[in-house]
Amino acid sequence: MRLSVLLGILIVCTLLLATVTEGCGPGRGHGKRRPPKKLTPLAYKQFSPNVAEKTLGASGRHEGKITRNSERFKELTPNYNPDIIFKDEENTAADRLMTQRCKDKLNSLAISVMNMWPGVKLRVTEGWDEDGHHSEDSLHYEGRAVDITTSDRDRIKYAMLARLAVEAGFDWVYYESKAHVHCSVKSEHSVAAKTGGCFPGRSLVTLEDGSRKEVQDLQPGNRILASSESNASGELVYSEFITFLDRQPEARKQFYVLGTATGANLTLTAAHLVFATQGNCSAGSAVTRTMYASDVRPGQCVLTAGPGAGTDQGPQVRLSPVVWVRVQVDTGAYAPLTQHGSLVVNGVLASCYAAMDQPQIAHWAFEPLRLMYGWTGWSGSPQGGGLHWYPWVLHRIGTLLLDPGHFHPWGVATHDPER
Ligand SMILES: *[C@@H]1O[C@H](CO)[C@@H](O)[C@H](O)[C@H]1NC(C)=O
Ligand SMILES: *[C@@H]1O[C@H](CO)[C@@H](O)[C@H](O)[C@H]1NC(C)=O
Ligand SMILES: *[C@@H]1O[C@H](CO)[C@@H](O)[C@H](O)[C@H]1NC(C)=O
Repeated sequence: MRLSVLLGILIVCTLLLATVTEGCGPGRGHGKRRPPKKLTPLAYKQFSPNVAEKTLGASGRHEGKITRNSERFKELTPNYNPDIIFKDEENTAADRLMTQRCKDKLNSLAISVMNMWPGVKLRVTEGWDEDGHHSEDSLHYEGRAVDITTSDRDRIKYAMLARLAVEAGFDWVYYESKAHVHCSVKSEHSVAAKTGGCFPGRSLVTLEDGSRKEVQDLQPGNRILASSESNASGELVYSEFITFLDRQPEARKQFYVLGTATGANLTLTAAHLVFATQGNCSAGSAVTRTMYASDVRPGQCVLTAGPGAGTDQGPQVRLSPVVWVRVQVDTGAYAPLTQHGSLVVNGVLASCYAAMDQPQIAHWAFEPLRLMYGWTGWSGSPQGGGLHWYPWVLHRIGTLLLDPGHFHPWGVATHDPER
């Protein structure tokens, strides 16, 4: 047996034993039930975790203001939760706009507030700020921070409110003033980058008989259209689906949608890898390289699978220009692994891998799993769920073998200048 295979088996076994909870969905405590614990109110001026807000251990660095005219405005989503009171002193509903992660944490906090103090609701006094009321690099400008109180404005409650916010999963909570608690979250990008890459459950793969199947319905043994090389340099083949490296039917996540000139739209998370030309393909560029979904721009070409020219030819790969890129929130997050490390999704060729820009290394790392599956049919997949250690595997192996420049730039620890 080749040394690399032995080494790989060792790594995979180690990883199988390790408990890793972050998948491609919102992390923290996923799938684990903690015993009830006594809640300690925060002290006045205390923050949790006990590091500065814009560091990696908390909400991460600021990524620049979002205005109504900016491209990133589409990353904000309104929160119409009837269990939350929005002060909206600006009368623009701006306080309701926030990132998906901020919204998830706030909604979860709204429930704990009602449970803790029946009849009392969570109240938001400041959300997204478009008027420049905060300090220059405030996370309020990015829809990642909220200032909160309770609906009865009983200041005695705020210390405990801050604790509830910590428990609700905010990445940084500060009992900032006697009049409010400040909470913030990491950016969607940094969360996506840390948690690997996925497709929404309703994405379609192509079976050998030409029919299509939703990613969420894939079964081990299904053979789906893919590329014979994990770096997309090969021919189209039908590759056996092995397992979901991650599978979260209920997760709501932010996805990038790449619309191509052929009408095929590929939807995937920011750190997922696709194959695209380096520059605009109208300018003659035909060589594709592996890149993150979030780096693809209109004008670049991706590889699509269309009908073959001759009658007895199967689907053929061709270059198709991307005509638009959007960000949208969708439900269900799936990371299928095939024997060949790639797959055609919604007619577009994509990698099975994410988070680092070297699919061959990821492919090598999963070779033992593929071999094991080939020999025994065992794919390491627990009943009914994904494996969840995938992002962690990639990150570990990547940090052993690669320099930090090979990682998705958002939110990878070794790549952050604040460290
Ligand atoms: C892709 O991988 C194959 C086999 O590992 C290699 O021969 C080929 O040069 C690679 N192509 C690119 C564009 O990296
Ligand atoms: C791709 O998206 C566009 C715009 O949303 C839509 O009109 C088109 O029908 C989509 N294509 C497919 C194959 O779903
Ligand atoms: C690439 O193409 C896009 C859309 O066709 C265009 O907006 C952009 O300016 C082009 N970029 C370059 C460098 O030619």
